Amino acid sequence: MSDDSIAIIGGTGDLGYGLALRWATAGRKVFIGSRSAERASKSASEIQAAAGADSQVQGMANVDAIQNAWIVVIAVPFLAQAETLASIKEKLRTGQTVVICTVPLEVAVGGAATRTLGLWAGSASEQAARTLPDTVHVVAAFQNVSAHAVQELSGTVDCDVIVCGDEAEVRARLKPWVEAIPSCRYVDGGKLENARIVESLTAFLIGVNRRMKVPASGIRITGIGSAR
Ligand SMILES: NC(=O)c1ccc[n+]([C@@H]2O[C@H](COP(=O)([O-])OP(=O)(O)OC[C@H]3O[C@@H](n4cnc5c(N)ncnc54)[C@H](OP(=O)(O)O)[C@@H]3O)[C@@H](O)[C@H]2O)c1
Repeated sequence: MSDDSIAIIGGTGDLGYGLALRWATAGRKVFIGSRSAERASKSASEIQAAAGADSQVQGMANVDAIQNAWIVVIAVPFLAQAETLASIKEKLRTGQTVVICTVPLEVAVGGAATRTLGLWAGSASEQAARTLPDTVHVVAAFQNVSAHAVQELSGTVDCDVIVCGDEAEVRARLKPWVEAIPSCRYVDGGKLENARIVESLTAFLIGVNRRMKVPASGIRITGIGSAR
């Protein structure tokens, strides 16, 4: 395992695939995880073709992908989060950072994509933290980044990435990964409990996309320095 590698559980999906594409293009080692090793390999081949022959991307089953990186991104639908975490948690290594991208949209129970569900834990990220062993670090990030924008390699991603987690040093581990995506800016989001604010912003952005007829609105926090 090296510091320039990352594993993406759900790396075959809209957001995970886009993040994998950006990081592979930036020269990072990416391990795409899937419930199906074949699906993961197919996504890895497509990303390699788009990111260039020198890019380092491999596809494999979720449990194998997590063995290759200190940072593990979880990019699965809210309804699949508990099942996905249960399937990998015994194999996670002490000290790994688990990055939760989940937004608990109401669509998961037949409601609107412009609303989030109220969860007892406070947010999908906090719920994930309760599920996972204390030996791993949990942060929340990338909830406000549009998969549409991140997949479009010819464009930049006009969005701040708020990273929440209970340890400042662990939040900072995400900074180089955020900054590897053109125009994304790292924002220190403080404790994991703030993820409930960040997650709900995504539902709001989905409404903005619909009203303004745009595919990929994002957020910027002002007053903290210019965006990259
Ligand atoms: N899409 C966005 O613009 C966006 C932006 C910010 C945050 N998010 C959040 O990021 C997460 C992933 O979003 P997404 O749009 O990338 O999701 P998606 O494309 O619907 O699914 C991502 C992957 O999750 C895996 N998965 C595992 N269990 C599943 C199940 N029971 N049903 C369906 N898929 C399952 C699938 O991979 P395998 O079948 O290969 O295992 C799938 O490719 C969500 O929590 C979402 O709220 C999304």
